[in-house]
Amino acid sequence: MGKALLPKGQYVETPEKTIAVTNFTDMEEFNAVLEAYLIDRATEKLEREAKQSSSKSTKIHHVDSWDVPGARFIDERAQTFFRTITGLQTSVVDLSWANVYQKGDYILPHAHSRSTGSVVYVVSMGDEDDSDPLSGKFSISDPRLSVCCLADGKYMSNNYMPNFKAGSMIVFPSSIVHMVSPYQGNRPRITIAWNINPAALPPRSAAESIGIPPHPGKAGARKLK
Ligand SMILES: [Fe+2]
Repeated sequence: MGKALLPKGQYVETPEKTIAVTNFTDMEEFNAVLEAYLIDRATEKLEREAKQSSSKSTKIHHVDSWDVPGARFIDERAQTFFRTITGLQTSVVDLSWANVYQKGDYILPHAHSRSTGSVVYVVSMGDEDDSDPLSGKFSISDPRLSVCCLADGKYMSNNYMPNFKAGSMIVFPSSIVHMVSPYQGNRPRITIAWNINPAALPPRSAAESIGIPPHPGKAGARKLK
């Protein structure tokens, strides 16, 4: 029998009604394979296109096209988690990609267009940097959320930082402002992200497609040997 997409009794934390965080403990083997695959793809991409800014991380798009064990499973699991938390019956991925963070990489505060819910999954935390507890931290930084206004309920006093580890997954409304602080480790930190809607949207305009390679076609299912 295969792994359950959402194991029975899976513990889910909900710091806000629309935000849910969980940790999957059955991903060790898949994570190792995904990590090796994504480091190879990122290295290849960096050799091909010089990196212009640490603010981008290195992105490998289209999870469902990756010909590697675990990719199809994690793609389905992210959508299952999205549907379960949002209560929506259907899910269509508008865009998915891995972020490979090398030393110094960060992502400025942003939210996502063309998307209802966003999911982030942690493949590898890379190196934990003891000298900087905020190294590579994913945070939600949005004054509209009470979880970011804990001091007086009126103004943003704090970021919400889930306690991620390899196997963690978060879903949140795509309109919520989030960011990743500069990563200080040597071993790459790797996450996968999805933007998901209940139904397919019209194709992206040319301006919206900048930096996104065309989808190369879906890969088949691959099992671990
Ligand atoms: Fe994002």
